[in-house]
Amino acid sequence: MSRAIYPGSFDPVTYGHLDIIRRSSAMFDEVIVGVLNNSAKNPLFRTEEREQMLVEVTEELANVSVISFDGLLVDFMREQDVAVIIRGLRAVTDFEYELQIAQSNRKVSRETVDTVFLTTSIEYAYLSSSIVREYARYGTDVSDFVPPYVAQKLKERFSL
Ligand code: PNS
Repeated sequence: MSRAIYPGSFDPVTYGHLDIIRRSSAMFDEVIVGVLNNSAKNPLFRTEEREQMLVEVTEELANVSVISFDGLLVDFMREQDVAVIIRGLRAVTDFEYELQIAQSNRKVSRETVDTVFLTTSIEYAYLSSSIVREYARYGTDVSDFVPPYVAQKLKERFSL
C-alpha cells in the first residue's frame, strides 16, 4: 500500500493546502496530514484547532487522516511507518528552503525517506496561511482563500 505524509503548520489550512491534499489523495492509497505542534512559532490557532479544521475540510476524502506531531518529521514518519513526504511548491522562492529540508530529511533518515513535490495550482500560487491571517485580522473577506468552516473560525478568532 502506498502511503505519504503531508506535513505543515496549517495555521490555518487554505485552499492551496486542500488542493495539494486532494491531488495527493488521488496518487497514494493513504495520506496522513501531519500538523506540526510547534509552541515556538506562536500560532494563531492551537494545534487541536488546526487539526479540527483539517478534519472538517477533508471529510469527504476517505483515505486522508489528520494527526499532529511534535519534534522531528522523520521521527514521526518512522512512528507512522511512512517513507514519503509531500510538499507543495508555489514559486521559485519556495525552492531553496524546500530543497534544503528535503535533502536534510533524506540525510538524517539515512536515505529512508523521500520528498515528492507537487506544484501548486496556478490559482493558489500567491496564497499562504500568513496572508490569510493578515487579511482576516483586518476584516477582509477571505472566502476565496479558505473553506467556509475556516473563514468562520477566523471571524470568531478576530471577533468580527
Ligand atoms: O507549513 P510549514 O510551516 O512550511 O511546514 C514546515 C514543516 C512542518 C514541514 C517543517 O517545519 C517540519 O518538518 N518541522 C518538524 C521539525 C523537523 O523535522 N525539522 C527538520 C526539518 S526543517
